[in-house]
Amino acid sequence: MIVAIDGPAGAGKSSIARQVAKQLGFEFLDTGALYRAATLAVIRAQIDFSEIDALVELTERVEIRWDGQCVFLGDEDVSTAIRTPTVTDAIRFLADEPRIRQQLSAQQRRIAEDRDIVTEGRDQGAEVFPEAECKIFLTASPEERARRRLQQLVASGRHMSEQQVLAAQNKRDLEDRMRPVGRLRAAEDAVVLNTDGMTPDEVLQEVLGIVRSCM
Ligand code: C5P
Repeated sequence: MIVAIDGPAGAGKSSIARQVAKQLGFEFLDTGALYRAATLAVIRAQIDFSEIDALVELTERVEIRWDGQCVFLGDEDVSTAIRTPTVTDAIRFLADEPRIRQQLSAQQRRIAEDRDIVTEGRDQGAEVFPEAECKIFLTASPEERARRRLQQLVASGRHMSEQQVLAAQNKRDLEDRMRPVGRLRAAEDAVVLNTDGMTPDEVLQEVLGIVRSCM
């Protein structure tokens, strides 16, 4: 069974998807981590982001591995290294390129083959797994998502104003929604869940209910 959870940055997809997978005994796939790892590889190789063919070639060549929890470049666990603002700001150069999306989507399908899996990203229900038994589009208002993000930043000792967080998030939302292939959108048969005003546990229970109704 495939559970596809999509939605904008900061909607809480990743932590909900992880918890849903754990509760149901399913595998978990964070597809953003694959895009992040590919971007980190480009930064390390010092390839210019305007050299699209070189980006495609490197993404083909580099070994990106997902073990169910962590992402690897070759043997190196890069799960923390992919979370820097430098990586986040550069992902669009790769995510906008259809040939790179094709490669990473094929990898996502290989990972999900013959498995019960909860997969999360932007294009999972609409593009990568149109046949998924359960599709959820998890969202929240920009202000609520920015507030949650700010809390995470403060907890990790970093400081930005709510305005700065909101501006960065709006930019990313626009990039994610406007890309020609694999853009952020709810599949026609997805259940849309707006989590404004809900606690993380309420979101988890609601999502589990939706998934069980698809079983
Ligand atoms: O989920 P996360 O915020 O880590 O994803 C980082 C970026 O990777 C997104 O903003 C988006 O540009 C890209 N992405 C994508 N398709 C996916 C997952 C992530 O284009 N399935």
